[in-house]
Amino acid sequence: LDNGLARTPPMGWLSWQRYRCNIDCKNQPDECISENLYKAQADRLVADGYRDAGYVYVNIDDCWPLRARDADGNLVPDPARFPSGMKALADYMHSKGLKLGIYSDMGSETCGGYPGSKFYMEQDAQTFADWGIDSLKLDGCYSTTDDFAIGYPTMAFFLNKTGRAILYSCSWPAYITGKQKIPPYKQIAQNCNLWRNYADIADSWSSVTGIMSWFGEDQGNLSRFAGPGNWNDPDMIIVGDYGLSYVQQRVQMAMWAIMAAPLYMSNDLRNIKPESRDLLLNKRVIAINQDPMGVQGNRLFKASNIEFWSRPLSGGSFAIAVVNYGDAGGPVRLEVTLENFGLDGTKFNVTEVFDNKFVGVFTLKDTMTLLINPTDVFFAVAKKL
Ligand code: DGJ
Repeated sequence: LDNGLARTPPMGWLSWQRYRCNIDCKNQPDECISENLYKAQADRLVADGYRDAGYVYVNIDDCWPLRARDADGNLVPDPARFPSGMKALADYMHSKGLKLGIYSDMGSETCGGYPGSKFYMEQDAQTFADWGIDSLKLDGCYSTTDDFAIGYPTMAFFLNKTGRAILYSCSWPAYITGKQKIPPYKQIAQNCNLWRNYADIADSWSSVTGIMSWFGEDQGNLSRFAGPGNWNDPDMIIVGDYGLSYVQQRVQMAMWAIMAAPLYMSNDLRNIKPESRDLLLNKRVIAINQDPMGVQGNRLFKASNIEFWSRPLSGGSFAIAVVNYGDAGGPVRLEVTLENFGLDGTKFNVTEVFDNKFVGVFTLKDTMTLLINPTDVFFAVAKKL
C-alpha cells in the first residue's frame, strides 16, 4: 500500500501469541489484555533499548472492546480494562516515541466474538483516527473469503479518508491459502501494508519450522510482492518465550530477517533472558531485516534436513542462511560454495551475523566448510568486494 508507511518491515510488539484473549484481570492483573499490559511493555521497549533499535509499534490484538457497540454504533474499549480510554493510551505511546496499533475484523465479529467492522468500516476507521491510532490489523473471521476483495480495500479507503497515517495489516491471504487457492497478491499489495499469509504462530519449534517450510514453497510467488510499503507477514516473533531453545531462537531471527518479515515480538519484555534480548536487539540481524531495498529472500535449495536461503541486500551484498532442521546426532558438516546461494558477483567477504565473526573471502566457486548444530542456522552476510 503506497501510503508512505512501512518503507521497511514494521517492528514492534503484539499481544496475541503470548497473551491471547486473557481478560481475567482479577486473577492475572499483569497478564490480561488491558491498558496496564500495553503500558508495561511500552515502558520496557523504551527502557531496554528496543524502541531505539526500531521496535516502535505497540499493537493491541483481539478482545479489547466491550461485547457490544454503544447506542451510536461505536466500539467501546472495555472500561474495566481500559479505564483511561484509547485516546489516553495512544497519547501515552506517543509521549514515549512509540505508536499504538489496534485490531478489528472484516466480518461481523472478531475471531474471539467481539464486534467486527462489517457495516461499520467508515465509522470504525474514524474512531481509530480520532483516538490517534497508528496501525490497524483487520482479521478475517466471520466473513467469507468472497467478500475480502471488496471488504479489505473498503477499509483501506476509509482509513485513507481519515487523513491520519494508519499502517494497515490485512489477514486477507491467510484465510484463502487454507483452501489451496492463490490469493490475489497484486491487489492485496495495493491495499495493505502487510498481510498475514499463513497459519497462526504458536510457542513451539514445530510451529516455527512449519511456517518456514510453507514460505519456502513461495506459493503464488508471494515473495515477489514484498517491497517498501508491502510485506508478507509470517507472524509474530516468539523469541523470549517458552517454546524455543536458544539456537532455535537464532533460527527464527535469521529467517525473519531473510524473509523481510515484520518483527512484531509477542513476549513478556518484563521477564526475558538477556540472551534473548540480545538476539532481539542484534544490530546486524535488524540491519538485514530492514535493508532499504526491501527484497524478500527465498529458499534456493532443500535436501533432507538442510535448507539454503538467500536475500539480496543493497550494494550487491547478500544475506545467506543454511538451516539445519535435523535433531539427530551432533553438528552437520557441509561443504558449500557461494554459487549454491545464487549469488551474483565474483568475490565476497563472508561474515557470520550473530557474532560478527569473519569467515573468509570467497569466490563463487571456493569451498566453504560449515558445521551447523542441530536445529541451528549458519547465518552470514556476503559482502560484495
Ligand atoms: C487470528 C489471527 O490470525 C491471530 O493473529 C489473532 O489475531 C486471532 N485471530 C485473534 O482472535
